[in-house]
Amino acid sequence: MTKRANNLSIDAKRLWSDLMETARIGGTAKGGIRRLTLGEEDRRVRDWFRAECESLGCSVHVDEVGNMFAIRPGRNNALPPIAMGSHLDTQPTGGKFDGVLGVLAGLECLRTMHAADYETHAPVMLVNWTNEEGSRFAPAMLGSGVHAGVFDRTYADTRKDGDGVSFAEAIEAISYRGEVAIGATPIGAMFELHIEQGPILEAEGDTIGVVTGVQGMRWYDVEITGRESHAGSTPMRLRQDALPAAAALVLAVQAAARACPGAVATVGTIAVHPGSRNVIPGAASLSIDLRHPDSGALERTEKAIEQALAAICAEHGVTGTLTRIWDSPPVPFDPRCIASVRQAAGNLGYRMRDIVSGAGHDAAYIARIAPTAMIFVPCAGGLSHNEAEDASFDDCGAGAQVLLQAVLDYDRRLAEAPQGEAP
Ligand code: GLV
Ligand code: MN
Ligand code: MN
Repeated sequence: MTKRANNLSIDAKRLWSDLMETARIGGTAKGGIRRLTLGEEDRRVRDWFRAECESLGCSVHVDEVGNMFAIRPGRNNALPPIAMGSHLDTQPTGGKFDGVLGVLAGLECLRTMHAADYETHAPVMLVNWTNEEGSRFAPAMLGSGVHAGVFDRTYADTRKDGDGVSFAEAIEAISYRGEVAIGATPIGAMFELHIEQGPILEAEGDTIGVVTGVQGMRWYDVEITGRESHAGSTPMRLRQDALPAAAALVLAVQAAARACPGAVATVGTIAVHPGSRNVIPGAASLSIDLRHPDSGALERTEKAIEQALAAICAEHGVTGTLTRIWDSPPVPFDPRCIASVRQAAGNLGYRMRDIVSGAGHDAAYIARIAPTAMIFVPCAGGLSHNEAEDASFDDCGAGAQVLLQAVLDYDRRLAEAPQGEAP
C-alpha cells in the first residue's frame, strides 16, 4: 500500500545519527572532518554510502570519475530520475555539514520512502558527486562538471594535487573508477540541500533558504618571477624580490573587491621559492578566488586585478602572469524546482526567504543539464570551511523534510503533467 506524499515524515534522529557516525570517518580532534577527495577516508565513506543505499534496495552505479548514483525505481522507469545529493568530500579543515548534509538528508528521504513503501512516479536518485571541494584537485565541482559536460574525463584525470598525484592515480588507488560512462546517467531534475555557509538565515531568524541561484566564480593562478640572490650582500636597490610584489598583490586583490559592491576575493594559497631564510625569493605563486553574482562585475574586477599586477611588477622589477584556471558563471535556478521548494517549506510552516548562494555547489553545474534548485538551512555564525562549522538538529531535520516534500511535489506535478511536458 502506498502512502500520500504529505504523510511522510523524515526521522531527524536517524539523520543526525548518520551525520555523527560518518563524521568519524576523517574526524579531527577539533570536531571537524578532514576527508580529502579520493583519499582513504573518502573510500571509507563511499563504501558506507554504497552499503546503506543498497540496503534500501537501490542499485548503486559509479561512473568513470567516481560519481555515485543510487537509484530507487518509480512507477515509470522510462523517466529520468529526480535527483537529490551533494558531496561527501571535505576541506582539509572542514566541518561536519558542508556537502555531507545534502547526501545524508537524501539518504534519509530514501529511507523514509522505503519504510513507507512509497512509490514515486519517476525514479528517485541520490548522488554523491566526486571532488566538489576542489581543495585537493582544483577546480571545485569537478565530478558534477564532468557529468554536465563542462569538463571531459581527460581534464579530470590530469588534475594534480599538491604532491603531484594525479586524479587518475588517486581514483585507481581507492578503486572508485566506475564503469558507467560519463554523463550516461540521466537526471530529470535535481534538488540539493546544503548549509547556507553564510550568516543571512541565522541573522534573519529564517529556517529555510529558497536558493534562486549561485553567484559567479573565477579562480586564478598567479606566478611572480624575480631573481634569487643573497640576502646579506644584495643591496635593496638591486633586488628583484618576488615576495613583496606578491604581498602588494594580496592587498590589491582585497582593494579591488572592496571597490566593487557585492564582490568577494580571497588569496588562499601562497608559495615562495626557494623558501630559505637567507635567499631573496625568486618566485611566488598565489591563488585567487573571485566571486560576484553579476558577470559584468566579475569582468571589471578581474581587469582591476590585472592592472594592479602590471603596476606592481613594474614597481618591484619582477614579472607576473595571471591565469584564469576556472570560470563558473552566475547560475539562475529553475523556476519550477524553486516553486517546489517554496511550496514544501510553506506547507510545512517554516520561515523562509529567497537567497543567492555565495558558495559553489554541484547544483550549479547540474542546472546546465536539468531543472535544478537548492535548499539552505542556517549554520552557526555563518561559519563554514572550518572545523567548528555547526548546524542545529532541528534545522537539519527541517531541511531534510523540505527536501523530501520538494522532491515529492515535483514528482506529483510530473505525474499530472501532460505526457512529455515539463511539470
Ligand atoms: C566550494 O566549497 C566553494 O564554494 O568553493
Ligand atoms: Mn559544499
Ligand atoms: Mn565546501
